[in-house]
Amino acid sequence: MLYVTSGKQTHSYPIHAGATLAQNLFAAGLYQGRPLCAGLGACGRCRVLYLSDPPAPDDVEVNVLSTRQLTAGWRLSCRHLPVPGTSIRIAHDSLTTPASGDDVSLYTESWDRLAIDIGTTAIKWQGVQPGSSTLHYGHLLNPQVGAGADVMARMAFAQLGPAMSLCLQQCLITSIERLVGRKDISRPAVVVTGNSVMIYSLLGRSFQGLAASPYALTYAGGAMATLTRQHASSSLQVYIPPLLAPFVGADIACGLAHILGHYPVSELFPFILADFGTNGEFVLALGPDNYWVTSVAMGPALEGIGLTRGKIASSGVCTGFTLTRDGLCPAGGSIGHGISGTGYLSLVSLLRRTGVLDDTGLFTRPGHLVGQRIENMVQHNASGKALVLEGKTILTGRDVEEILKLKASCNYALKSLLGHGRLRTNAVRKVFVSGALGGNLRPLELVDLGFFPTSWEKKICLAGNTALKGAWDLLVDKDARTRVQGLQGHVQSLDLPAQDDFARGYVAKMRFGYC
Ligand code: FES
Repeated sequence: MLYVTSGKQTHSYPIHAGATLAQNLFAAGLYQGRPLCAGLGACGRCRVLYLSDPPAPDDVEVNVLSTRQLTAGWRLSCRHLPVPGTSIRIAHDSLTTPASGDDVSLYTESWDRLAIDIGTTAIKWQGVQPGSSTLHYGHLLNPQVGAGADVMARMAFAQLGPAMSLCLQQCLITSIERLVGRKDISRPAVVVTGNSVMIYSLLGRSFQGLAASPYALTYAGGAMATLTRQHASSSLQVYIPPLLAPFVGADIACGLAHILGHYPVSELFPFILADFGTNGEFVLALGPDNYWVTSVAMGPALEGIGLTRGKIASSGVCTGFTLTRDGLCPAGGSIGHGISGTGYLSLVSLLRRTGVLDDTGLFTRPGHLVGQRIENMVQHNASGKALVLEGKTILTGRDVEEILKLKASCNYALKSLLGHGRLRTNAVRKVFVSGALGGNLRPLELVDLGFFPTSWEKKICLAGNTALKGAWDLLVDKDARTRVQGLQGHVQSLDLPAQDDFARGYVAKMRFGYC
């Protein structure tokens, strides 16, 4: 057994073989809703105090924890397997983080229609109540964030065994049940969208086909599904929109259906839909019956996870930077509350424009005064140069590398799609940006950093959460379901890692500027 003490209480839990201590704690329900990086050693939020003999610290822990903490018995629970009798203490504030922008009183209400978008990090919803036309919105953290930040971590967790897979499924169903609210009256019409991994997880399906190449969909969506919570007597019927390709899910089908329903076709094609999250999903729409799609792992940095002061965007978190006479100025919040992923893109874009970062992401000394004033904020620390603001290290070389990886992924995916679609860059008429980048970011920053070519700056439409908008369309527009169902059969999927030049092409794009 594993013994966990929090406050004055100690509980015992069975140990799941092969699972880290952090994964065992998630399975016990303790880390659900707490954003963890799942073993990268980047977030430090999984630290626990060993009451039994602590294991020897590994190199990652030596970097993340202080000598005093290590001597006292603190360890990162994601770096160790528990053994029978392992006994730990968890600080109360490291259990769950119920981050939500919702009016929680809404959860006691009933709904007439409800659209839900299960993102890897957040679950977003909108709905109307019976007899009302007022649209309510909200979001809550996806409880699965405690099992890892991205879809790969979730699949790895599920593959630890049926109990772990069930645990992931049940925490999603519990969140949806919580949203749906009262059960004593008729159930609402519900559409649930999301990326392929989230939909598979919700339905408790095996990840076979998604976990290893050659990838294949074993579930195509476009159908009603029944969600049943363990030990509950009632269940919920929901509509799952079609999934388009192994890693291009129902969220993209909804996004496309929304765009097709809201823009005149004569002004639309060819267009790009780019959905940024921990997985980037991209569509090149050449015509109503001709779509190329692909996806690429982007990691959790865009969600603010794993960066030096990274935080998931919420009230008080800095979401951007401006340049004033006094130097760098955080916008939308304080760096004391953390910096969102889009805040980091804004910061790096500003450093690029002022010449403080060169094309390869290295700190340099610019030739002009404005740049030099910012460069004066760069200090040397144990792991190299870092930008310090208000006495806090906010950007390290490792952070810049994470941003470069995002840029390289996007750049490579778009170049590959355009190549397979035999389309010139300039021929694209519109570029819809959805997902985590859909808000708080300016098109100028996207082209500055090289996510997109410069010629697309005026074509970029920051479209917000097109997945949720499309899911809502399916509830209120009778033609939307025909549109979304009609996509299947007109989609060609591009498997980027299977391309001959994948590694070389990706590495070549690890520099700022679209190339
Ligand atoms: S450092 Fe352990 S989960 Fe992030």
